[in-house]
Amino acid sequence: MPADLLLRNGISVVAGKEAIRSIAIEAGKIQQICSPADEPTAREVIDCSGMYVLPGAIDIHVHLRDLGQSEKETFATGTMAAAAGGITTVVDMPNSIPPTLTSFDLEGKIECALIDKFVNVGFYAGIPKNIVEFDEKMIPNLLGLKVYPHAPLEKETKYTKDHIRDCMKLAAKHKIPLLFHPDAAASEKRVSEKEEFLELHSCRSEVRSLKRFLSAKVEVEGKLHVCHVSCAATAEIIAENRAEDTLTAEVTPHHLFLSDNDFSHENGTAKMLPPLRGVDDTRALQNALTQTCAIDCIVSDHAPHEEHRKKAPFLKAASGIPGLETTIPIMLTEVFEGRMNWVDYLRLCCSGPARILGIRGKGIIAEGYDADITAVIKEDSVIRGADFHSKAKITPFEGRKIFAKPVITVVGGEIVYSHGEFLVDPGVAGNAPVRKGW
Ligand code: DOR
Ligand code: ZN
Ligand code: ZN
Repeated sequence: MPADLLLRNGISVVAGKEAIRSIAIEAGKIQQICSPADEPTAREVIDCSGMYVLPGAIDIHVHLRDLGQSEKETFATGTMAAAAGGITTVVDMPNSIPPTLTSFDLEGKIECALIDKFVNVGFYAGIPKNIVEFDEKMIPNLLGLKVYPHAPLEKETKYTKDHIRDCMKLAAKHKIPLLFHPDAAASEKRVSEKEEFLELHSCRSEVRSLKRFLSAKVEVEGKLHVCHVSCAATAEIIAENRAEDTLTAEVTPHHLFLSDNDFSHENGTAKMLPPLRGVDDTRALQNALTQTCAIDCIVSDHAPHEEHRKKAPFLKAASGIPGLETTIPIMLTEVFEGRMNWVDYLRLCCSGPARILGIRGKGIIAEGYDADITAVIKEDSVIRGADFHSKAKITPFEGRKIFAKPVITVVGGEIVYSHGEFLVDPGVAGNAPVRKGW
C-alpha cells in the first residue's frame, strides 16, 4: 500500500550526524525512515533535496491571545506564525482576557483554537487566589499550571511561602508541572523612571523569586519549571539544584543573544519581562545551554502587542515581543555557523520541551511518532518584522542576519505551509488541546 506522503532525499540528523534519508508518512504518523534506495511508493512525493528535514519545534511558552485580545493576535495568525517559523506545537499561556482559570474559560479557548489553528495547540491554566476553588475539570486538557508572582491573574493573590507550597502541591497532585515567572517584584508598585523599572525587575528579584519556589519544592514531590531564565545568577542556582526532571528551565533567544546596552530604549521595541540583561548574563546563559545544562529548552515567549503599544515611550510601552518567526531561524543559525551541534539543537527545541511537559509521540523523528516535521534551507536573509504572519511586527531582532529558513511545515501528516503559502484551511491540521502522555 502506498504511503500518504513521502519527504524524499532530505538531510536528516541520524545519531547526531547529517545523513540523506526519505521519510514516509501514513495516517499522520511517521511510518518509515529509509535511505532513498529503499523508499516505499507514496500518493504524494516532495523532493527535499538540499533541505534539512527536522522534527517540528515545540514551543512551550506562547501567548496566543485571541478572545478579548484578538487585536493583538488570533489563534489563526499566531499559529500561522508558528508554522512559518518551523514550530509545529505551541503551548498557550493563561494570562489572556479572560484569564484561563475555569473550565468554562478553557473550553471557550479550546473551541476557538480548534476552528482557527494551523499547528498543535496545548494549554496552561492559572491557579485561583483561593486554591480550593481550583476547577479540576480543566486537568485533562492541561499541560501545566502557570503562576505570575509579580502580576497575579487574580488581583491581590500573595505569593507567600504557604501559597507557593500549596500551588506546588496542587500541580503535584494532578501530576502536571508548575511553571512560574521568576520575579518577586510587588505587583502594585508604580515606576516613573526606566532605571526604576529595571531595578524593580532586577536579577536580584529573579533570584529571590527562584529561591522562594525552590524552598517550597523541598517540601513537595512535584515538577517545577522556571520560565525565561535571564540572569547568570539564576542559571547558576538552577545548575546547583538540578534533580533530573523535577526542576527544569527555559530560555528565550532574546535573553541569549541581546543585551540591555544594545538598545537606547526610547520606546518599547526591546521592552519585555524579564528585561534584557548585561553581556555577562547572555554569556552565562549560552554556557548554561550546552555546558552546565542548567537550561532544558528554548522558548519564544511570543507576546504580541499592537504597534502603538510598542512604539510608545519606554515606561508606557507594553512588555513583550513576537518570537514565533525568529526563534528557530536564530537557533538554526547557531547550528549552521558551528556554535551549536545538532544534538543540542534537537534536545533544546524539540525533544526537551516534549519531555518537560510529558507530551508523548512528538519531538523526534522516529517511526510511530507524529508526523510533525519542518524542512529548512540554508539561506542568508535578514529578519524583517514587516514579513511576519503574526499581527505583532515590532522585533528587537529587526535587521539581524539569519542563515536558516523554514520552507515546508507538516503537522500530523498535513502539509500546512510551503514556501510562503498556507495549503490547508484553518482548523484542519493539528490537535487542540495537545494532551500529556502519562
Ligand atoms: O514581557 C512579557 N510579556 N512578560 C510577561 O511575563 C507577559 C508577557 C505578555 O503577556 O505580554
Ligand atoms: Zn513570563
Ligand atoms: Zn510569557
